[in-house]
Amino acid sequence: MLILGVESSCDETAAAVVQDGKRVLSNVIASQVKAHEKYGGVVPEIASRKHTEAIIPVILQSLEVAGVGISDLEGIAVTRGPGLIGSLLVGLSTAKAIAFAHGVPMVGVNHLEGHIAATLLLDPPPAFPFVALVVSGGHTNIYLVKDFQDFTCLGQTRDDAAGEAFDKAAKLLEIGYPGGVVIDRMARQGNPGTIAFPRAMRDSLDFSFSGVKTSLLNMVKKQGRLFTEAELPDVVAGFQEAIVDVLVQKTLKAAENAAMTRVVVCGGVAANSRLRERFYEDGKEKGMDVFIPPPVLCTDNAAMIAVVGEHLLKKGKRDDLALNAVSRWPLELRP
Ligand code: KG4
Ligand code: ZN
Repeated sequence: MLILGVESSCDETAAAVVQDGKRVLSNVIASQVKAHEKYGGVVPEIASRKHTEAIIPVILQSLEVAGVGISDLEGIAVTRGPGLIGSLLVGLSTAKAIAFAHGVPMVGVNHLEGHIAATLLLDPPPAFPFVALVVSGGHTNIYLVKDFQDFTCLGQTRDDAAGEAFDKAAKLLEIGYPGGVVIDRMARQGNPGTIAFPRAMRDSLDFSFSGVKTSLLNMVKKQGRLFTEAELPDVVAGFQEAIVDVLVQKTLKAAENAAMTRVVVCGGVAANSRLRERFYEDGKEKGMDVFIPPPVLCTDNAAMIAVVGEHLLKKGKRDDLALNAVSRWPLELRP
């Protein structure tokens, strides 16, 4: 099937054309980073407005790059949630309009299931069942994934998501936006062993990142100034290592407990170079196969939404024009 994916849940306006849930013919992403930079985080009002401006050009470009017309499409898959309601509505309304005007079947997709499905674009893809870590700006969840639509949550964050911790730390340190990307780059010049940051909840599969964030804040407060350019690389390397450590250890532990040898890592933070390195190394040591999409398919994109859409549409699932956006949509619940 030839599916158009549409994604607008947060601050990326994205459209992609994917064939048979495997071949990415186009993957267009319009980032809003510049619009939110000066606020140090995503401003929902601005995000909605930017999506409205970008959605049509992005969809048209995705069709053009793929070399297909709207009449060639056999389905439209659109992110329905979770995410910012105003942002979601832009993609959803546009998808509905195209589906209605051209008589193309449409289906709403869970953004988190999309992140996991991005891994199915790898060659070879992971076979079901597997354990998946979804780690992004809004989520840090470990799932046992038996199939599409079959998820059991094995662990989740009790406070901040890992991406949120990176973003808040970068804001506190005044080193730039978006935080995860800046810290990833800067940490490469630093020594992760110079400063020890706390690792929370060692005996659980749940996460907590508020402690590591607070310990950074306390360091700044105690010395009464921000870190110098010379000090920063060691600070962010230590901070990143503390987050990476718990993500890797708990996910591999969850896989071990569930007797799984396949581990999937996805979501925006899975673009982190140290996290990728550690997962491949530690996974190998434990005899596990680790699957991580390339960075461009880790951060928000619409190809991952089209992969889930292909599966749902093939099974006969259709949504009508009454479909609404949802800000919260845990994966283990089905509407
Ligand atoms: O999946 P995503 O694009 O959007 C959400 O669904 O949240 O994830 C965005 C998050 C942000 O918190 C961002 O800082 C983080 O992913 N991120 C990274 C890297 N690239 C993006 N975190 C660490 N290292 C990176 N290279
Ligand atoms: Zn995401």
